[in-house]
Amino acid sequence: MPEVAQRVKNLPPYLFARIERLIEQKKAAGVDVISLGIGDPDRPTPEHIVAEASRQLYNPAHHQYPSSVGMAAFRKAVADWYARRFGVVLDPGSEVVSLIGSKEGIAHIAWCYVNPGDTVLVPDPGYPVYAGGTILAGGEPYLMPLLPENGFLPRLEDIPTDVARRAKLMFLNYPNNPTAAVAERDFFATVVAFAREFDIIVCHDAAYTEIAYDGYRPPSFLEVPGAKEVGIEFGSVSKPYNMTGWRCGWAAGRADVVEVLGRLKSNIDSGVFQVVQCAAIAGLSGPQDCLAAINALYKKRRDIAVAALREMGWVLNPPRATFYLWLPVPRGYTAESFAEHLIEGAGVVVTPGTGYGKYGAGYFRISLTLPTERLQEAFGRMKQLLGRVTF
Ligand SMILES: Cc1ncc(COP(=O)(O)O)c(C=O)c1O
Repeated sequence: MPEVAQRVKNLPPYLFARIERLIEQKKAAGVDVISLGIGDPDRPTPEHIVAEASRQLYNPAHHQYPSSVGMAAFRKAVADWYARRFGVVLDPGSEVVSLIGSKEGIAHIAWCYVNPGDTVLVPDPGYPVYAGGTILAGGEPYLMPLLPENGFLPRLEDIPTDVARRAKLMFLNYPNNPTAAVAERDFFATVVAFAREFDIIVCHDAAYTEIAYDGYRPPSFLEVPGAKEVGIEFGSVSKPYNMTGWRCGWAAGRADVVEVLGRLKSNIDSGVFQVVQCAAIAGLSGPQDCLAAINALYKKRRDIAVAALREMGWVLNPPRATFYLWLPVPRGYTAESFAEHLIEGAGVVVTPGTGYGKYGAGYFRISLTLPTERLQEAFGRMKQLLGRVTF
C-alpha cells in the first residue's frame, strides 16, 4: 500500500471523532438529537433562483465544459453587485474569477504563492481551510490570535517583523466565523498599510457580509483605498441565498492574483456548471427581498438564543452579523467536555471552539441554521440540564 503523502499527513487531526461517536450512540439509542453545530442554511434556495436554474437546465450550451474562470455574464453580475452593494468598481474581465464555492478558492490560493516553508498569516480561531490550504501547499501557518479583548480582530502590531517579512499571504474573515465579530473600514485600512509595508497578499473572506441585523451593513475589504492593489476578496452565494449545495463563489480584486488563481484552477477543475452560474446571477441581480426575509428570520432566532442564554447566566451582546454565537464555556468545563456534556445530557450538539484552532479553547459555537421550534426546544433542554451557569 503506497504511503499517504506527507502533505496530507501534515493536516491537523480531525477533532470531532469522539463527539461524532457520541452523537451516533445517542441516535442509535433513540434520542432526538438537535444540532446547533452546523453552519448550513436550513431554508431552501429562493424560488426565483431555482426557477431560473430549471429554465437554464434545458439549454444545451450549458451542458458542455464551462470556462474555468467563469462566464462573462457571471463575472459581470459579480462586478455589478459590488458596484451596487459597496460602491466598488471591478473590471469583470480581469478582476473577478468564478470559484466552485469560495472554499475552493480559499484552499487553492496558497498553491499560487506559497512555497514549502513559506509563512501565511492565519486567524485563530478561524475557518479551518485557511490553515489547511496553507499546509497542503507546504506552507506554515503563523497564528494571529482573535481575542475578545481586541474585538476578535488580530493585533497586527504583535506580529514580529521577521514573520511579517516572510509572510506571503494573510487570511482575514469579517463578519467572522466562528466569533461573529465584525470589522470596520478603519481596521481594513490598517491591514492595507501593513500589507503594503511587508508586501503581503491579503485574502479577505467575505462569506457573511449579507447576513447582518439591526440595519448594520458590513463593509467589503475592497471598499478601502488601496485594497485592490494588495489583495482579493472571496465571496459566495452560499449564505445569502441559501445556496451552499450549489457550489458557486468568486474571488475579486487584485488583477494579477485573480489571473494566477484562474491559471492554477484551469489545471485542476473546469469551472462551475453554467446552470449554477445562471442561478447565482439570478440571486445577485434579482430582487433582494429574499435576503431581507432570511435576515429577519435569523434575527428572530438570534433574539430567542440571546434571551435563553442570558437567562442561563451568559453575558453577551447580540451579534450584529453572521448566524453564529461564540460563547465561553461555563466554569469547570473545557470546550470538548462541555460539548460532550450537552450531547450526553440534552441531546444537543454545539461545536467546541477548539475545532477552529487553539485560541478557540474555552469557547463553543452555536449556529442559528435550524428551524425556530427546534432552536427553542434545544434551549429548553439546555436550561433543564444546566440551570444557571457560572464562569
Ligand atoms: C468563513 C467561511 N468562509 C467560506 C465558507 C465556504 O463557503 P462556500 O460555500 O462559498 O464554499 C464558509 C462556509 O461555512 C465559511 O464559514
